[in-house]
Amino acid sequence: METTVEDLKPESGTVVKGPQKNDETITVVDNRTNRVYTIPIVEGAIRATDLRQIQCSLGDPGLMTYDPGYINTAACRSTITYLDGDSGILRYRGYPIEQLAEHSTFLETAYLLLHGELPTSEQSDEWERAIMAHSMTHENIKKFLDGFRYDAHPMGILMSTVAALSTFYPESRNVSDPACRRMQMVRLIGIMPTLAAYAYRHRLSLPYITPDPELGYTKNYMNMLWKRLEPKYVANPVLARALDVLFILHADHEQNCSTSTMRSVGSADADPYSTTAAAIAALSGPLHGGANEEVLRMLEEIDTRDRIPGIIAQVKAGQRKLMGFGHRVYKNYDPRARIIKQVAEKVFEVTGRNPKIDIALELERIALSDEYFISRKLYPNVDFYSGIIYEAMGFTPDQFTVLFGIPRTVGWLAQWDEMHRDPGKKIARPRQIYAGEPHRDFVPIELRGRRDLAA
Ligand code: ACO
Repeated sequence: METTVEDLKPESGTVVKGPQKNDETITVVDNRTNRVYTIPIVEGAIRATDLRQIQCSLGDPGLMTYDPGYINTAACRSTITYLDGDSGILRYRGYPIEQLAEHSTFLETAYLLLHGELPTSEQSDEWERAIMAHSMTHENIKKFLDGFRYDAHPMGILMSTVAALSTFYPESRNVSDPACRRMQMVRLIGIMPTLAAYAYRHRLSLPYITPDPELGYTKNYMNMLWKRLEPKYVANPVLARALDVLFILHADHEQNCSTSTMRSVGSADADPYSTTAAAIAALSGPLHGGANEEVLRMLEEIDTRDRIPGIIAQVKAGQRKLMGFGHRVYKNYDPRARIIKQVAEKVFEVTGRNPKIDIALELERIALSDEYFISRKLYPNVDFYSGIIYEAMGFTPDQFTVLFGIPRTVGWLAQWDEMHRDPGKKIARPRQIYAGEPHRDFVPIELRGRRDLAA
């Protein structure tokens, strides 16, 4: 009679054949050794370190998983943002993004992301006061800004000035103190619009506008951007609300590239300013937050509808990507893109219609009926429509990713704080599969033959 796994009640390393029925575990048969291992499943995952016991021989370091780009690796437990990419669902602390975009404000959503609950009206007032009280920068920051060339990219300026803040607040290194962490989080959220507005005005050689806490978060930002000689700049309420909604939509998105960077750098206990600067660097890439700028440049290039089929053909031939399309997690319509389309219509009632929206809508229509995009589940992402709104509001394309970075700072900090509260926190340190030369002895220069390096 054949031995089954059930007969043996297998323990790690037992030699068996056949299937096993058991709750919340997985049985792995190593066909190299014919050993079977029972590994617990917790919250839909196995611990990668449980695979280490799977060894071929004594001294074998054990089995690893190979996952470049972390396509199927959970690097943390989090209670902040829920994302179901197949169904197109996004929730912050359980609240659907659609409801927050309709009923909440950016600062209230920021409070929710950081504290886990919506604030009472008293808490909300205190929160807004605290954030706005930190909107002012040290005067030396303005001197740094003056050092940048007139055409410096605003993301480079933002990244550098945020990193520089670590030298102003050396106590921020005390990352294990929750009160210290909170102080820096409030300060960073408060100061981001000011740094962003100063980066904008530096390019235009315009004097910097001192923040006005009375205006509230978004209107104060608009004031710092666009105030000229008028005695009092009055932000258009429709545009201010649109910007606030866009900030809500961009506030967090679980373990994306920049947030993973935030956690990774923060895991070494680096201070939050250096850590946030690293996250800004990741965000600036065109495959991540920098895509909104690339979308606008692509739409500028297309210019007229008759050029769309040519662009689609280039994309299908693998010669270029359709920027603002595709997502690592969403294999359905990005719910944020749906809301942004509605916001766009409201903005255009004030600014006039940005003709690029019609090119974008046509591009989307053609792409969503094309087999290439359907089979790969490529839908518009958050970056596809946001730039069109920003442009209509008066931003230049190089400002778009900054407009992403201001609200995403909240998500980065919420995730960073959560990581520091996690008793299981570990420094990020992935493994590798070494594929290089085996041991070899040093060759003196006169004995070396020429070996041209691969381009
Ligand atoms: N245009 C054309 N084809 C695409 C696109 C696109 N935008 N995105 C993915 N594909 C294709 C790939 O070529 C690949 O095709 P293949 O199977 O024939 O090789 C397939 O779809 C799967 O794509 P991957 O690159 O494996 O997907 P991945 O999850 O690694 O990448 C990413 C996701 C980086 C977002 C990608 O879709 C992309 O580059 N999009 C354009 C840039 C962009 O809009 N980025 C913003 C994302 S949202 C954000 O970060 C805020």
